[in-house]
Amino acid sequence: MKRNIIISAFIIITLTFSSCASRSKDEVEIKIDDLLSEMTLEEKIGQLTLFTSSWTQTGPTMREGYLNDVKQGKCGNIFNAHTAEYTSELQRIAVEETRLGIPLLFGYDVIHGYKTIFPIPLAEACSWDLDLIEKSARLSAKEAAAAGLHWNFNPMVDISRDPRWGRVAEGSGEDTYLGSLIASAKVRGIQGDDLKDESTLLACVKHFAAYGAAQAGRDYHTVDMSERVLRETYLPPYRAAIDAGSATVMTSFNELDGVPASGSKYLMTDVLREEWKFRGFVVTDYTAINEMIPHGFAKDTADAALLAMKAGVDMDMQGGTYLLHLQDLIDQGKVQEAAIDQAVRRILKAKFDLGLFDDPYRYSDVDRENQVVLSKEMMDHSREAGRKSIVLLKNDAIDGKTLLPLNKKPKQLALIGPLAHNQMDILGTWHASGDASKSTTVLDGIKEVAPDIDVVYAEGCKTYGEDRSGFAEAISVAKRSDIVLMAVGENYRQNGEAASRTNLNLPGMQEELMEAILDLGKPVVLILMSGRPLTIENLSQKVPAILNAWHLGTKGGSAIADVLFGDYNPSGKLVMTFPRNVGQIPIYYNMKNTGRPFKAKDKYTSKYLDVANDPLYPFGYGLSYTAFEYSDLSLSQSTMRLDEDLNISVGVTNTGSRAGEEVVQLYIRDLVGNVTRPVKELKGFKKISLEPGQTQLVEFTISAEDLKFYNQDMSFKAEPGDFLLYVGGSSDADLSGKFELIN
Ligand code: BGC
Repeated sequence: MKRNIIISAFIIITLTFSSCASRSKDEVEIKIDDLLSEMTLEEKIGQLTLFTSSWTQTGPTMREGYLNDVKQGKCGNIFNAHTAEYTSELQRIAVEETRLGIPLLFGYDVIHGYKTIFPIPLAEACSWDLDLIEKSARLSAKEAAAAGLHWNFNPMVDISRDPRWGRVAEGSGEDTYLGSLIASAKVRGIQGDDLKDESTLLACVKHFAAYGAAQAGRDYHTVDMSERVLRETYLPPYRAAIDAGSATVMTSFNELDGVPASGSKYLMTDVLREEWKFRGFVVTDYTAINEMIPHGFAKDTADAALLAMKAGVDMDMQGGTYLLHLQDLIDQGKVQEAAIDQAVRRILKAKFDLGLFDDPYRYSDVDRENQVVLSKEMMDHSREAGRKSIVLLKNDAIDGKTLLPLNKKPKQLALIGPLAHNQMDILGTWHASGDASKSTTVLDGIKEVAPDIDVVYAEGCKTYGEDRSGFAEAISVAKRSDIVLMAVGENYRQNGEAASRTNLNLPGMQEELMEAILDLGKPVVLILMSGRPLTIENLSQKVPAILNAWHLGTKGGSAIADVLFGDYNPSGKLVMTFPRNVGQIPIYYNMKNTGRPFKAKDKYTSKYLDVANDPLYPFGYGLSYTAFEYSDLSLSQSTMRLDEDLNISVGVTNTGSRAGEEVVQLYIRDLVGNVTRPVKELKGFKKISLEPGQTQLVEFTISAEDLKFYNQDMSFKAEPGDFLLYVGGSSDADLSGKFELIN
């Protein structure tokens, strides 16, 4: 009997919410009002609560009995539960066993793929290919949506200039301009044109705000910066994601100017809602409300819940603080029920937008899951995205010939290193439900791409520990070979969340193994696989060829082999500076000049006694198997009025003998400002493809909008004055022009 009543309650709601596509927005709001009027306070608080399932644990705590919470209407949202089958099972409980049958929302970290894994975000950003990046987001949403998921905790758009911070792997690097474009591309990819489309998910831009500026690169550490730096460098990518329509926002763990983000009314209401007009809902990061207690900002969980609610946080991830305290806080008059209603409304709206009130099971479709997950479409894209993410850092000629690309003709090749044949590590950090058994390793890739090559593999050592027992085998394999490929770097746990490092050399015995192999005097190719820039200055002086191959995902090994043997000509460009050593960090291309800029012979200038100022490899840098020459830089005019555009053109010629792609980059420098300006700022880029001998005229347009910055009074405007402009294939570009901005 009870079950029948419950089912009819759900049917009534379902019917009232059906054929929503044809209804206007106002009607949706009315339906939400009706539903709200039916809901008890406890049911409302349930909608503001998100718990993890026991399937995966992505944080320190676990709540037993989340199934009971769902049954009792105390938890309206679940994360870390996936597959069509399991999500259907949970959804059935919410829909059939709770009084109002409101469907659950299922969230998950589909950061670079659900089961088919694409390159880690830092790697993929190196493609500078916004269509490719959008496609990766689109396909991973499609795969995840087929496995019952509704909501992706992605994109992560935290700018970071500190590779000690392990989470740089999840972001798009150090540059605000590029990071903002990537943020929008990812939101478009995740959400598509219509959230009702069963292959789209809600996006969740994170971690708001400035999480990437953790002091000393230590995860979760303090963030403190001027409002100018916050607004100019760190906030734009979040804003770009919101302007692209991101349905949700996640708070960050860090404090900012003394206030933990989840308790920051300034961030969650003043900036997000009032300035940026964000209409979706805000979820905390994992137990971030509770963490306001150790932060020293709240005295207990009740206080923390109150602060979060007052700040404008709608949903509590995993902390259970809203569940525990909101009722009392209302009884005590500290929180108004209207505030709760508003948060519930935003969450119901998202469920409604996804079509869950039409059909709560529409995402949990076993047949669709079987067709889409790990399909050929996914695999092909994994390989394509992988090869476009690789950055060729070095390729010196030996006796007039570069080592790469390798010849496919039979030859004895040694493949050595702990990452050469490891199916898990190549998936990288945050690899969701990534299926390692489907990964192609570097060894597999070589066998696939160059079947005639005689390749012998030895692990040599692990990525950790002090065991050198594999050295002898590795040395003997290397001795018998013509060329040695060393696949070394970080394993998938040596970067990512809670994986900060103070030493960015190759971990474990790998550096020693490299030295032992280099001592043999064989030609060595370094295939560096990691989740962040590593300090490889020493090795870079000793090896003739280096491929930065990051962690490329399921088809990573094939992608690496494509590049090794020249089936794909590498085109990736770094999005994060490679420091010479850890002491140079933070190091980034758009630094300030200082009052005493570097002069080699002048002691009292800004420099170190023990290391150069410049990085090992700068932002924007990456080689190709061909060469590009830049010429004929021309500006449409030498003065530009505030209301005018400036057109810039440059000729780019492929002077080598292979077709190749080049990322043509445009930087400016504002020479004198009301506040000091960086020595270079990226303002545009174009990725072009050139046949050998071909020249292309590449054009850019700049308007005063591109020259704006926060002045002393925090007004955002462009100032008349002189500017330098640089065009080239990296932030080291030296082909330059000048113009003056006038009123
Ligand atoms: C991470 C978030 C993630 C969340 C849920 C947290 O530890 O900081 O990025 O979305 O867990 O898994």
